[in-house]
Amino acid sequence: MNSPAMQGLSLHAPAWVRNAKLVAWVADMAALCKPDAIHWCDGSEAEYNQMCQQLVDAGTFKRLNPAKRANSYLACSDPSDVARVEDRTFICSEKKEDAGPTNNWMAPAEMRATLQPLFDGCMQGRTMYVVPFSMGPLGSPIAHIGVELSDSAYVAVNMKMMTRMGKAVYDVLGVDGEFVPCVHTVGAPLQKGEKDTTAWPCNPKTKYIVHYPATREIWSYGSGYGGNALLGKKCFALRIASNMGREEGWLAEHMLILGVTNPQGKKFHVAAAFPSACGKTNFAMLIPPKGFDGWKVTTIGDDIAWIKPSQDGRLYAINPEAGYFGVAPGTNTLTNPNCMASLNKDVIFTNVALTDDGDVWWEGMSEAPAHAIDWQGKDWSPAIAKETGAKAAHPNARFTVAATNNPALDSAWDDPAGVPIDAFIFGGRRSTTVPLVTEARNWNEGVYMAATMGSETTAAAFGQQGVVRRDPFAMLPFAGYNMSDYFQHWLDLGKKLAASGAKLPRIYTTNWFRKGEDGKFVWPGYGENMRVLKWMIDRIEGQAHGTEHVFGVSPAYEELNWTGLDFSAEQFKSVTSIDKAAWQQELKLHSELFEQLAYHLPTELSETKGRIEARLAA
Ligand code: GTP
Ligand code: SPV
Ligand code: MN
Repeated sequence: MNSPAMQGLSLHAPAWVRNAKLVAWVADMAALCKPDAIHWCDGSEAEYNQMCQQLVDAGTFKRLNPAKRANSYLACSDPSDVARVEDRTFICSEKKEDAGPTNNWMAPAEMRATLQPLFDGCMQGRTMYVVPFSMGPLGSPIAHIGVELSDSAYVAVNMKMMTRMGKAVYDVLGVDGEFVPCVHTVGAPLQKGEKDTTAWPCNPKTKYIVHYPATREIWSYGSGYGGNALLGKKCFALRIASNMGREEGWLAEHMLILGVTNPQGKKFHVAAAFPSACGKTNFAMLIPPKGFDGWKVTTIGDDIAWIKPSQDGRLYAINPEAGYFGVAPGTNTLTNPNCMASLNKDVIFTNVALTDDGDVWWEGMSEAPAHAIDWQGKDWSPAIAKETGAKAAHPNARFTVAATNNPALDSAWDDPAGVPIDAFIFGGRRSTTVPLVTEARNWNEGVYMAATMGSETTAAAFGQQGVVRRDPFAMLPFAGYNMSDYFQHWLDLGKKLAASGAKLPRIYTTNWFRKGEDGKFVWPGYGENMRVLKWMIDRIEGQAHGTEHVFGVSPAYEELNWTGLDFSAEQFKSVTSIDKAAWQQELKLHSELFEQLAYHLPTELSETKGRIEARLAA
C-alpha cells in the first residue's frame, strides 16, 4: 500500500521489475487513476492470447475464421474515434516559441492542472496494464525504453505487435535505467457495478494527447485509436524522440526505410518521408515490376526512422518499431502483394468489414462481397453502398501485424547498428503542379524542398480531406518542437557531415499522385515506382545525366527503364511538366509558410527561395 488512495488495490510488482523509479511511478499513477487492478505485462504468447480472449469476451474483438485468417481478430471502434486528433495534440514546452506555430501549446503547469481532474479516477472499473517496451532492438545503443500504463487491453495487444514488448525490457532497464513514462486512458471510468455499454469505450467529448518535452512524458486521454493511444509510435518515436535527437545530434523522422539491391548484388538504402496515408508502407514493400529482373527491394521499416551519424561520417537508420499499423483500404494483391501476404495470420484488423464467412474486406481489396457487416456493425452490400455511399471499411481502417510476417523483411531490419542511408525522398500527394521526381542539387536545396512540401490531407487524421496544406518533412503533426528549429537541425547536420568529408545522402522529392483531366492518376504508381527508384540509383552511381530546371534535376523520358510498361512520352510529360504560373502560385504558398515560421527560420531557406524565384522570373 503506497498511499491511502491505493487501499484495496495491491501493486504486486513482479520480482523481475527491479527499477525503483518505475515501481514508484506506477504506484503514483495507480493512486491517481484508481484502476480496479494492475496487470504487469510479461509480453508472452500466453498473455497475448489471454488478453485477446478477454477482448473477444468483452465484444471488442471478433475472432476471424481461422481457415481464412489464422489467429486474427477484428475490432471496430466508436465512430468518434477513428484517427489521430491533431487539434487535440499538444506540445507543452515551457515557452510557446519552443513548440512553434505549427503545434498546439499550453504551459505545462496549466496543462497539468487541466489533466489532473480528468485522470483522477479515470481507470475506475478497469485494469491498468503496465506495458514495458523498447523502441529499437533491445539493448541497442540507439534504442530507448518506454513504459505505457493503459486501461485498454486493445492497446496492450497492439503494443505487443508494434514494439519489442515484455519482460526482457526490464532486464535492460535494470535497477536504475531511464524510461519514457507514457500514461494512457480511454477516459471512460465505470461506477461501482457499472458495465460497459459499448465494445469500444472512449471519451467522445474530451481528448488530450499531451507531450512534455522537458521531462519526456506523454499523457493521453479519451481515445483508444492508433497514434492517439499506441504511445510508442507518434508520441514517443516522433514527438519526444525528435526532441532527444535535437539535443543529441540525431534525427527522428516519419520515414520508411528500404534496401534496394541491383542485379550485380550492390545494395543501397533509402529513407522516404511521405505524409500519412501517402504510400510509405507500399513503397517499403515494393516488388520490382517487369523489366527489373534481378532487382530486389527489402523492408527495414514502414513508418518511422531514427537516424544517427556514425564514426564513418555516414547516416545510419534503424526502425524503432517492430510491427506495422498500416492503412487497409486500397491494399490488394496487385498494389501490394507483400503486404497482403503479411496479413494471412496473426493480425489485428481495426475498422474493416466482416464478411459472411468470417473474413475481412475493405474497399479496393477485391471484388466486393454480396453482403458484409460494415465497420459500424451495419449490413452492407454493393447495392446499399450505391444507394447511401456507405463504406464497408472506414477510410482510415488499419491492420496491426508483426514485421516478421513481411515476406520482404530485410535481413538487417533488427540490426542494432542500422543501415547506411544513400538517399532521402520526400513525397507529397499533389494532383497538380509537383513533378514525378526531382533531385535537389545539394543538401540545403533538399532541405528547402522538404520544408516546403505540400500534400492533400488524408483520412489518417480527423478533419477535412483533400485540401492542400504545407506538411514540412511529412512531420507537421509529429515535430515535437519548433518547426524552424527543426529545419535548422537538418541544416546543421548536413554541415557537420560535410565538414567530416562524408558523402551526403542525395535528396529527392516525388509525387505519385498527379491527375489527368479525367480526374484519374496518370502515374501507375505502386510497383511501377521502381522505375523512379532506379533512376535515383543511376544518379547516385553517376549513370543518369538528368535535366536541370528551376529547382532541381529531373529525368528525361529516355532515362527511365520502360520495359514492361506502356507509358508514352506524352503521359510522362503530363506528370513531369513544370507549369510556370502554377509554380509562381506555389512559391506564394512557400512565402506564406515562411511568414508563419519566421521566428528562427534559417536564412539559408529564404535565400534558396530567392534564388528559385529569380530563376522562375528569368
Ligand atoms: P501512414 O501509415 O498513415 O503513415 O501511411 P503510409 O504512408 O504508410 O500509407 P500507405 O502506404 O498505407 O498508403 C496509403 C494509401 O495510398 C493506400 O490507399 C494506397 O493504395 C495508396 N497508395 C500507396 N502508394 C501509391 C502509389 O504509388 N500511387 C497511388 N495512386 N496510390 C498509392
Ligand atoms: C499516421 O497517421 O501517419 C500513421 C497512423 O502512421 S497513426 O499511428 O494512427 O498515427
Ligand atoms: Mn505514419
